[in-house]
Amino acid sequence: MNLSLDNIIKQAEDAFESAKDSSSLDKAKAHFLGKNGVFASLFKEISTVSSENRKNYGAIINSAKKKVEFLLSQCRDRLLNKELELRLSSEAIDVTLPGRGFGTGSIHPIMRSWERVERIFHSIGFDIVDGPEIENDWNNFTALNSPLGHPARSMQDTFYIDLKDKNNLQLLLRTHTSPMQVRHSSINKPPIKIISPGKTYRVDSDSTHSPMFHQVEGLWIDKNISFSDLKGVYTSFLKCFFEDDDLKIRFRPSFFPFTEPSAEIDMMFNTGANRGKWLEISGSGQVHPNVIRNFGLDPEYYMGFAFGSGLERLTMLRYGISDLRCFYENDLRFLRQIRY
Ligand code: DAH
Repeated sequence: MNLSLDNIIKQAEDAFESAKDSSSLDKAKAHFLGKNGVFASLFKEISTVSSENRKNYGAIINSAKKKVEFLLSQCRDRLLNKELELRLSSEAIDVTLPGRGFGTGSIHPIMRSWERVERIFHSIGFDIVDGPEIENDWNNFTALNSPLGHPARSMQDTFYIDLKDKNNLQLLLRTHTSPMQVRHSSINKPPIKIISPGKTYRVDSDSTHSPMFHQVEGLWIDKNISFSDLKGVYTSFLKCFFEDDDLKIRFRPSFFPFTEPSAEIDMMFNTGANRGKWLEISGSGQVHPNVIRNFGLDPEYYMGFAFGSGLERLTMLRYGISDLRCFYENDLRFLRQIRY
């Protein structure tokens, strides 16, 4: 009996050892330890053993079974390790290969100008304010001295929205940042000294116009802010923005409904491709008394200047870009060139 059990153990060991993978090991396990396996039939024979030998018989078979189970678990561990090693070596990563690297992103040229403008005006005491791109008719036109039916409204090709706000005012995509003058000044007391950069929208598209573009509005209202303050502030802004002390600047009479007098600001470089040409850069003027009144302020006491400049225009002149559409095509060859 012991001899044949030793044999069975040896056979089981051989069968386990020769299993090449988990499934053949499972087969060998079923043969020896399964429901109809070798040990199951040995246990069945217990009924043929005399009652005084039964206990001993059972104990011997049990200990043999334990040995086989132990051998099985050893073989299973070995097989699993082998399979793991195989997988690791086939999936090996070559750590000596050079990495793909990460491309360094950069700030969009328009955002670069936006930040420059903010830094410059902030350094001379202007607050930076932000407002919605969907505006109402009052802030965008009426309060700025362009009532319904006024011909000045048609100077701007507007995207109207088929909705009104809670005060029954027509909604539209703001055509300029000037409505921020109204929003801010209606809820703040002078001195008001702000710039407000942001997106603006007009039905317009060619090499120098895009339906979405950026402006920066400026407004300084107090008891004695005059046109000469506008000249001083805007001149030093331009010299700072273009890092050019030789810049020539002129204020050319113009018309805007919300300023009186109004001026177009032109500038001229002393060097570069645009050397010697007057270039239009911004609208500006003394805020019209009607507009001051629409802010809720008394024009007898308060006065000041405003300006509205295109961020695309400032950027194109700073970097010598001739087509505004380059800004929105996301061509990395273009964007990579502007890094400072
Ligand atoms: N809002 C004007 C436009 O988009 C620009 C402008 C002109 C703004 C004169 C001003 C200003 O604040 O005073 O064409």
